[in-house]
Amino acid sequence: MPSSPVNDALVALVRHLEERRAHGEEFVWLSPKARKELRELPKALVAAPPRTAPTPPPQPDPTPPVAQARVEPDPILSAAVATPKFVPQGATKSEKLAWLAQRAKDCPEVRALDSLRETLIFSTGNPDARILFVGDAPGPEEERQGEPFVGPAGNLLTKMIAAMGLKREETYITNILKFRPAVPNQGESTRKPSREEMAVCLGFVQAEIEVVKPEVIVALGTLAALGLLGSEEPVARLRNRFHSFEGIPLMVTFHPSYLLRYTDLSERRKVWEDLLLVMEQLQLPISPKQRAYFTG
Ligand code: URA
Repeated sequence: MPSSPVNDALVALVRHLEERRAHGEEFVWLSPKARKELRELPKALVAAPPRTAPTPPPQPDPTPPVAQARVEPDPILSAAVATPKFVPQGATKSEKLAWLAQRAKDCPEVRALDSLRETLIFSTGNPDARILFVGDAPGPEEERQGEPFVGPAGNLLTKMIAAMGLKREETYITNILKFRPAVPNQGESTRKPSREEMAVCLGFVQAEIEVVKPEVIVALGTLAALGLLGSEEPVARLRNRFHSFEGIPLMVTFHPSYLLRYTDLSERRKVWEDLLLVMEQLQLPISPKQRAYFTG
């Protein structure tokens, strides 16, 4: 193909897509505008000149190259970056999750953001879990131990799981973000993940859910609900009923760190009522004592 801004942009686009396919992505999301631009591309392509004809002088091309086209917002998170879709490779659930973790470790989309720290904190728990918990982003203790939910909020989550009559290792625990958000002079500081960071990492959680196939998902806090449901509603309005994520019942409840800040019994009871619904959904045994937890 002869060189022109449009032709060169097309070659670059094909190369980029081939690279993503080599990393296991089979689908990319395209906005309606990008689809329209791609459909119109053949008209803008510069045809190869006949072999005998002299090469025409280069003409200024009024069409902006595709590579410079504005990136449309992510449909779920209204972020200016696309969410990659992953097709994990491997014969077993563990192999597929290991593939995803490796893909996250080397993730060029994450590195391109240049706003997350280096250490990967992917997930923990049982690939065959019936229940999957999703938080937002790892904190300093998670980074030190390389495991989600092992700091103060994690200790409370572990107690909540025990109150349900389960062991932490029986569940699958993950986060939307696979790296801790970076801040200057980091120390123990944390910050809220940006929409772009969430959009870029969301493909991993989506793929993890597809691999684990839990019977119930619990989204812990506003950001997990935003990531999985695309809902900006506060947790108070989303909780206490089941939503659906790809056909899997999904309960939204308050993040354990909210319970660490608001320690009154009534807030704990709200979370417990959400978890009782989850237990009913899983047909777990519920004793009268369990039913009455946090009622004073
Ligand atoms: N909060 C989260 O959302 N995830 C963690 O892993 C720890 C704290």
